[in-house]
Amino acid sequence: MSEGSLELKKKIVKKGNLPAHVAIIMDGNGRWAKRRGLPRTAGHKAGVKTVKRIVRAAGDLGISILTLFTFSRENWKRPRYEVSAIMKLLYETTKREINELDENNVRLITTGRIEELPAEEKEILENAKNRTKDNTGLILNLALNYGGRTEILDAVKEFALDVKERKLEPNDLDEKTFSEYLYTKDLPDPDLLIRTSGEMRISNFLLWQTSYTELYVTNVLWPNFAVKDFYQAIWDYQNRERRFGKI
Ligand code: FPP
Repeated sequence: MSEGSLELKKKIVKKGNLPAHVAIIMDGNGRWAKRRGLPRTAGHKAGVKTVKRIVRAAGDLGISILTLFTFSRENWKRPRYEVSAIMKLLYETTKREINELDENNVRLITTGRIEELPAEEKEILENAKNRTKDNTGLILNLALNYGGRTEILDAVKEFALDVKERKLEPNDLDEKTFSEYLYTKDLPDPDLLIRTSGEMRISNFLLWQTSYTELYVTNVLWPNFAVKDFYQAIWDYQNRERRFGKI
């Protein structure tokens, strides 16, 4: 670790008000590859290396939950070879890293319609989740086949069914009850959302949950996103004033 990032880490630890839940839109793999004259899939491969270092850094800092936007429902519209390459990376990475994750007390969970993933990916993820379910360290939450609007519609449908079955009345619906119908029912809302590679949008990520989340956008492309960039985002968050609509 460079001297600069060690200094920054010390300041972060001393300040103390860490975000409990950090979510990341990992963008820019394609652009990173293009700039090097490489296929887009090389960018995703490089992106996996960043995932590893940021997971380690988050665990080391004592962040409770790290949510990574890994594959959106919209991503199925990419060329077939790219979708297959991302699925393969996910499969291989989970298989390769599960021992280290488990040894480091990381609990792997997923958010999104996992049931629609290819059988092999689904199985390896379910095994990894099962194996780490009692771990008490960092919660690594992979958003997979995830879409924010779909999640809200799934929640509405489930609530409507409960009303039909007379378990609840329409008037019982408030923010807390609705949150319990979302995929993320067991998680607190993100405190900080980081987006790499400069785009100023939410891209259908955690629409309900990010109402009061602090946003941090950096121009750094995901494969180049270093631990010091992660620290910078956290330091920026720690120095903001969160008002939640109050004065
Ligand atoms: C965005 O870059 C990246 C993705 C859609 C895929 C992210 C997947 C990984 C990093 C690999 C698997 C991850 C894990 C957790 C094992 P982009 O392709 O949209 O980049 P661009 O906007 O520059 O085209």
